[in-house]
Amino acid sequence: MYDFQIVAADKTQMYRDLASALEGLVAGEPDAIANMANATALIFETLPDVNWVGFYRNVGDELVLGPFQGRAACIRIPFGKGVCGVAAETRQVQRVEDVHAFPGHIACDVASRSEIVVPLIRDGELIGVLDIDSPNLARFDAEDEAGCVALGEILSRVLT
Ligand code: SME
Repeated sequence: MYDFQIVAADKTQMYRDLASALEGLVAGEPDAIANMANATALIFETLPDVNWVGFYRNVGDELVLGPFQGRAACIRIPFGKGVCGVAAETRQVQRVEDVHAFPGHIACDVASRSEIVVPLIRDGELIGVLDIDSPNLARFDAEDEAGCVALGEILSRVLT
């Protein structure tokens, strides 16, 4: 068992510590499922006020559920549908303050109120997306976005 216990004084430091813990966790491990599984556990345990952290992988130009922490979720999401599908299609981070106001949002857990989805791209290829949900409205600010993008960069390097 790994015991990272990230207790940071502020959000900047928390994301820095989280990124460095993630780097350590995936270092030297080539198995994508193992890395995604551990990444979701670490992120879920570290970030306050989140109820779902997981991956959707690009499989044949459709998103398919990968390792996650949280409630059982929808398995397949077409590109362009929901927050994850829009992130995959546009390859742009989607930071949604109120998921109920997002056209086509796919409600996997009715408790989710805000969400951030980071596309994972390596060598020009979309590998999948990292999806984080919160039961709080507007849970993710610009600093969270920068922190999650940094996590996505680490993951893009090690996932296939
Ligand atoms: N809400 C997402 C679907 C995935 S769940 O949040 C786990 C969406 O609209 O794409």
